[in-house]
Order: sequence, then structure tokens, then C-alpha cells
Amino acid sequence: MISKTIVEALNSQIKLEANASMQYLSMASWAEINGFNGVANFFFGQSEEERMHMIKLVKFINERGEKAVIPALDKSKSEFDSLQDIFTTFLESEETVTNNVNKIVFQCLEAKDYTVHNFMQWYVSEQAEEEALARTILDKFKIIGSDKGGLYLFDRDIENIAVNKE
Ligand code: FEO
Repeated sequence: MISKTIVEALNSQIKLEANASMQYLSMASWAEINGFNGVANFFFGQSEEERMHMIKLVKFINERGEKAVIPALDKSKSEFDSLQDIFTTFLESEETVTNNVNKIVFQCLEAKDYTVHNFMQWYVSEQAEEEALARTILDKFKIIGSDKGGLYLFDRDIENIAVNKE
């Protein structure tokens, strides 16, 4: 039996993962329209990953005899100034998710719910990885700036950056 507070916290995480999934889908679509196919593929993949994170929570809550709530989503940002803007949004989104993960972990400790605490450790690791990836990519923009050749190569090489995170 999970406490009401923890169930609510887990459900809030479902919404954040779902929002992230749709936000990344929006970013993938923008990149595709603007000719950055590498970045588009990267975010189509990220969107799918976030959907899996969401489903993992849904199943966990339901399997514990509680009720997962499938939420209404926030409107995704769909206009971007640049690729750098896209990846800044990526980092901000991941930071938002991390903050909520940390909040839930703290609530689990307060409630002495070590089962949910253990479950959430997967999300703690995942977030550390995702934030590191977003920061690594944003560092590259400090070098590239708005250089068209640099952006072209970045788009071509992002697949390798994404693969290296595994
Ligand atoms: Fe599942 Fe990257 O938040």
C-alpha cells in the first residue's frame, strides 16, 4: 500500500514524462521541417524514451494496487529560434523532471516508503545521464555558434553523441 501523498507524487511524474515526450516530439518535428534530420531522429528517439518512462510509472502504480492517472498535457513549445534554443529547452525540460524525481525521493524517505524509493532510483540515474547529455551537447554550441558548416556537421554527428550515452 502506497500512501496517498506518494501516489499523487508518482502521478505528477507521469504528467512530466508525458509532457517531455510531447515536447520532444514537437522538437523533432521542428528539426525535420528545418532540414536537421539528425536532430529530428534524436528527438523522435527521446520522445519515445520519455513515453517508456511514463508507461513504467503507470504500470508500477497499477501493479501496486493503486490507480495511475493519465493526465491532460501542457501545450508544448513549438517555435524555436535555433538548434541551440532546442537543446536549451531540452536541458530545461530535463531539469524540471529531475527536480520532481528528487522531490519524490525525499517524500519517500519521509514516508519510509523504501519500495517506491528503490523504484525511483532508476529515474535518478536516468536523469543524471540525460542532463549530462544535454549539457555536453550545449557545450558544443559554444564552439559552433551559428556557423552553418558547424551546424551541418553537428546534425550529421549527433547520432554518435546519442549512441555514446548508452
Ligand atoms: Fe524521463 Fe528525461 O525524463
